[in-house]
Amino acid sequence: ELPGFHGDPKTIHLEVVVDSTEREEIPPFGNIVDYLAFGGIYRDVYLYELESTFLSDAAIRYEVSSIEGETGTVCVTPVVEIDSLKQGTPICLKLQLAGQEHLCEAVTLGGVQTIQFPTFACEEMLLWHTDAPHLYDCHIVLEEAGCVLDEADIRLGFRKIDFSADGMFLNDRPFKIFGLNRHQSFPYAGYAMPKRAQEQDALILKRELGVNTVRTSHYPQSPYFLDQCDELGLLVLEEIPGWQYVSQKEEWRSLVVRDTKGMIKRDINHPSIFAWGVRINESRDDHALYEETNRAAKELDPTRPTTGSRCIERSELLEDFYSMNDFMHGSSQNNGNILRKQTRCTGLEEKVPYLVTECVGHMFPTKRFDQEQRLIEHALMHGRIQSMAAQYPEYMGAIAWCAFDYYTHFDFGSGDRICYHGVMDMFRIPKFAAAVYKSQKKPKDEYVLEPLTYWTRGERNGGNVFPIHVFTNCPVIEIKMGGVSKGRMERQFFNTDPNMQFLDYPPFLLQMTNGEWGDCWNEAEFIGYMDEKPVISRHFAANPIYTELLVEADSSELIAGEFDAVRMVVKAVDQAGNILPYLSEAVSVETEGDVEIIGPCCISLTGGCTGFWVRTRPDAGKGVARVTVLGSEGRTKRIALQLI
Ligand code: GAL
Repeated sequence: ELPGFHGDPKTIHLEVVVDSTEREEIPPFGNIVDYLAFGGIYRDVYLYELESTFLSDAAIRYEVSSIEGETGTVCVTPVVEIDSLKQGTPICLKLQLAGQEHLCEAVTLGGVQTIQFPTFACEEMLLWHTDAPHLYDCHIVLEEAGCVLDEADIRLGFRKIDFSADGMFLNDRPFKIFGLNRHQSFPYAGYAMPKRAQEQDALILKRELGVNTVRTSHYPQSPYFLDQCDELGLLVLEEIPGWQYVSQKEEWRSLVVRDTKGMIKRDINHPSIFAWGVRINESRDDHALYEETNRAAKELDPTRPTTGSRCIERSELLEDFYSMNDFMHGSSQNNGNILRKQTRCTGLEEKVPYLVTECVGHMFPTKRFDQEQRLIEHALMHGRIQSMAAQYPEYMGAIAWCAFDYYTHFDFGSGDRICYHGVMDMFRIPKFAAAVYKSQKKPKDEYVLEPLTYWTRGERNGGNVFPIHVFTNCPVIEIKMGGVSKGRMERQFFNTDPNMQFLDYPPFLLQMTNGEWGDCWNEAEFIGYMDEKPVISRHFAANPIYTELLVEADSSELIAGEFDAVRMVVKAVDQAGNILPYLSEAVSVETEGDVEIIGPCCISLTGGCTGFWVRTRPDAGKGVARVTVLGSEGRTKRIALQLI
């Protein structure tokens, strides 16, 4: 029964039939695709009860006309769409923004009509920036003869983005893109994860990994994820669904244009989105199709630039900036190159705005539980590329492949339908490569110190632990071996990795000796200093013993009455708190109360840890629920969850 329904109560039965078949006439399909697109209804669905005239869309276009420090003058042109069954009825649109109210009067035409407000200026507006993502609420009311027919709340942020051959500018200041690609897939659930999990991914990217940009490869992603990017100050490059293949069939091609329009219409008001990807990722040139997607994008959103990620060189530039997936580093033909020069990729004589939208990925698939030398090289590849992208203004920056391991078709991946390309695994547990990103955070936000070592005698070829890369944002570090200090060292060219000098905090490169194969093995401690004071340290035991089973939950609350889910990470740690990287025992998970585990309840730790999500039951009421994780030898952890 619909709330607010007057007259005879009626029961409306809605039946939705979902076909999850991958159909060749629908992008991204038609050929093979390196990701699983899943199927079914995997996001929240709402049923709206509407008047016969209602707001069907609103795009709040704007231009920042002048900037002073953190504020600016913004010229706003709202474009509102209404849908009406009536013709000739006078209506009034009221829009409130930053303490101002603007009116626009019109007469319904019957059907969908667009109403553009006259442009107005808002002064001294706090601008949106990745460092300070100021947001404003915009409220729109649709009235007929003084009666409210419909209302909408839109969250806005105002920022100025410019591009040139010398890079990108955010609010007139140079800005270097330092980012990762994201697939929105999750273990066992695929794409079907609720708000909290989507938001958590944005938090991980921004707060844990410290990147400033994410590319929603290769499709528009959850609105909850985008909302959180707006709030946190995480720039987004969003793109249409597709992967390398372009069909010549009219039906398929018209869906590409439809997808372009759909993406822009849905997401136009997100300040975090700085560009539209209007090409099928890594597809060949197709002048007619891409002229059309660019045209459609500009018609709906004249203010945002377009781009499209290529893997071919000398592709026709129809967009505002050229994006390249540059997998040169790690290739056998690379001659030591890290990134290609942009003119080689564009084939153009003059430089243009140019962004690296992928790198590393399949050139060096790395599992979290791989041998440490592989984990280190994986990290160093990310570090070298990000450093080179930071060094030259001809790169707007680099968005590496990728944030999290993801599910894929059998044509890709490691035989288990997983691509191990993430700097984190599918449970969002970090690999060494995550340290490259984390360590670039400002020390005022968090001190980071990540020595890339398991500190064991026999892990590396040759039985030595050195050289060790220490990724840290501390200017001075000290290493103690067997309790004896080897001295403090301040970050300088000679003691850091020469290939990462353009990172904000190049990693220390420790070249020492820990004795020969057969010598006694000792503990170690790495200490980071700031202003002469020790602020962070990592201790490695000489003889690691399985000491504790840790369970860390992202939140202790879940929302009853809706599908909510919280991640829990389970770690087997030694006496120094380090994950035991090759421990793979089974743990079982039990729940009490209105929650259940997504996936199996008996799981094995892989490389000393794993994760799972706990979800609310569909009929969950408020109260307390408990999750118990049982490991070997009586190691047990109990986590209480409040269902609110
Ligand atoms: C790229 C592609 C991505 C992913 C990546 C793996 O060519 O655009 O979707 O497959 O390779 O490195």
